[in-house]
Amino acid sequence: MKDITILGIETSCDETAAAVVKNGREVLSNVINSQINIHEKFGGVVPEIASRKHIEAISYVVEEALKQANMTWDDIDAIAVTYGPGLVGALLVGVGYAKALSYALNKPLVAVNHIEGHIAGNYITFKDLEPEFLCLVISGGHTHLVQIEDYTKFRILGKTMDDAIGEAFDKVARVMELKYPGGPKVDLLAKQGDPNKIELPKVHVDGLNFSFSGIKTAVINLNHNKKDIKKEDLCASFENSVTKMLIQNTKIAIKEYNFKKIALAGGVSANSYIREKFMELGKELDVKVYFPELKLCTDNAAMIASAGYYNYIEGARADLTLNAIPNLKLDRKQ
Ligand code: KG4
Ligand code: ZN
Repeated sequence: MKDITILGIETSCDETAAAVVKNGREVLSNVINSQINIHEKFGGVVPEIASRKHIEAISYVVEEALKQANMTWDDIDAIAVTYGPGLVGALLVGVGYAKALSYALNKPLVAVNHIEGHIAGNYITFKDLEPEFLCLVISGGHTHLVQIEDYTKFRILGKTMDDAIGEAFDKVARVMELKYPGGPKVDLLAKQGDPNKIELPKVHVDGLNFSFSGIKTAVINLNHNKKDIKKEDLCASFENSVTKMLIQNTKIAIKEYNFKKIALAGGVSANSYIREKFMELGKELDVKVYFPELKLCTDNAAMIASAGYYNYIEGARADLTLNAIPNLKLDRKQ
């Protein structure tokens, strides 16, 4: 089969990213312009600022992705862009840019779901990983337990009923006066704490769904009311508590559906404690555990180009009516 080279564009939140990926798995370039230092002083992403910064950065980021891949436009077979979920103004910058490129260069356009992109991060890291498998998508905006039936076919088995897990990490970090995004800082502090030091509420949720807001609120209240608690212990106990919830549902899903492979995806899958506990789970249940390399866990465009490739070879094409869909669902095709 002829090689297919895709340019991916990602602007759903606070990273302006472009990447060139061959045949869905081989990364030729992966350029990320992060706005973190701009949003840091506000304690979270300011949507209006995010859109403006994407507009300033996008041309440079796309050019740089081509340059680093040592390619010209003639070498690109299609343009893949994130069209949701995410911040509408931020998404529109990428979607508008990709539509203009597709029109001007007469190249096919492929619309990519951001969550599908996170899942595809695993295909880049593990060249032999193929569906079917179970994927736990844990990011700043999503917490989904997904059956990956095929490259573009998904069944959601469970999801959060309230906060996304990354949101809970960031909120807990914020009340402890750790800088945005707090997840990585909680991860570091927790390494020096005792995960069993503080008892947090055990939350019961129906089916394979999750809930993080009760645990988050308990941590916030303890941090506020009990000045003698060490932040390290609170971070470690918080991680222990949310990880137990992730493991509990994943375990049920593995047993119920007889999965042989499980993958983690999304920014929170960079967490070292969660990774450690899922490796242990893999050993316990004799299933293979995958997680993307660290730079492919958080937002990037290589994962979008990879997911774009699998949609492209199935014939998915978007046209110039493509719009951003801020609350796009994983199991909905456009
Ligand atoms: O996937 P992502 O870049 O964006 C969304 O699609 O939401 O995820 C960002 C989230 C943030 O909440 C960030 O705090 C969290 O991932 N995160 C982490 C770690 N690294 C990033 N959370 C816990 N531990 C980490 N090491
Ligand atoms: Zn993301």
